[in-house]
Amino acid sequence: MQVEIIVGSMLGASEYVADALAAKLETLGIASEIHLQPDTQQLDQNKLWCICTSTHGAGDLPDNIQPFAEQLKQQQLPQVHYIIVGLGDSSYDTFCQGGKKMHQLMQSANAILLTDPLYIDVLHHPIPEDEAEAWLENLFNQPDFKQQIHSLC
Ligand SMILES: Cc1cc2nc3c(=O)[nH]c(=O)nc-3n(C[C@H](O)[C@H](O)[C@H](O)COP(=O)(O)O)c2cc1C
Repeated sequence: MQVEIIVGSMLGASEYVADALAAKLETLGIASEIHLQPDTQQLDQNKLWCICTSTHGAGDLPDNIQPFAEQLKQQQLPQVHYIIVGLGDSSYDTFCQGGKKMHQLMQSANAILLTDPLYIDVLHHPIPEDEAEAWLENLFNQPDFKQQIHSLC
C-alpha cells in the first residue's frame, strides 16, 4: 500500500504536516509521495489519497491546490480511496472550509472516504503535526481500516 499526499498550503504549515505524515507512514512501513502541485493525471488512483490542506482568504483553498480542485470538478474517481486532514483557525467562521471543500469535491467525484476527516484547529493546536501524526497512527492501527486498505497497492 502506498499513499499520495496532496498538499494545499500558503504559508507552509500544511506542508510541515504533510512531511510529518510521510515520516509517520515510513515508520509504519508505508511509502508515500508528497504533491505540492497536484495533478490528477500524475496521481495513482490505486493508491490511497491523503489530502492535507489549509484554508485561506475567507474560506478559500490555498493557491497551489486550486488547479487540482478545478480538475476534480471534471472527473469521476469511483475507485479512489481518500482521507482528509484540514488545517484551519476556529476564530474564522469559515473554519477549515478548504478541507471541507476538498471533501465535497471528492464526494462529487464519487471517491470513497475511508474515515471522518481530521480538522485541526491551529488556534488550540499550535503544533498541528502532533495532532496529525497521532490521528494517522491510530487510524492505521485500527483493524477495520487495515482491512479496508488491504486491497490497495
Ligand atoms: C490570511 C489568512 C486567512 C485565513 N482564513 C482562514 C479561514 O477562512 N478559515 C480557517 O479555518 N482558517 C483560516 N486561516 C488560518 C490558516 O488556515 C491556518 O493558519 C493554517 O495553519 C495555515 O496553513 P498553511 O501555512 O499551510 O497555509 C487563515 C490564515 C490567514 C493567514
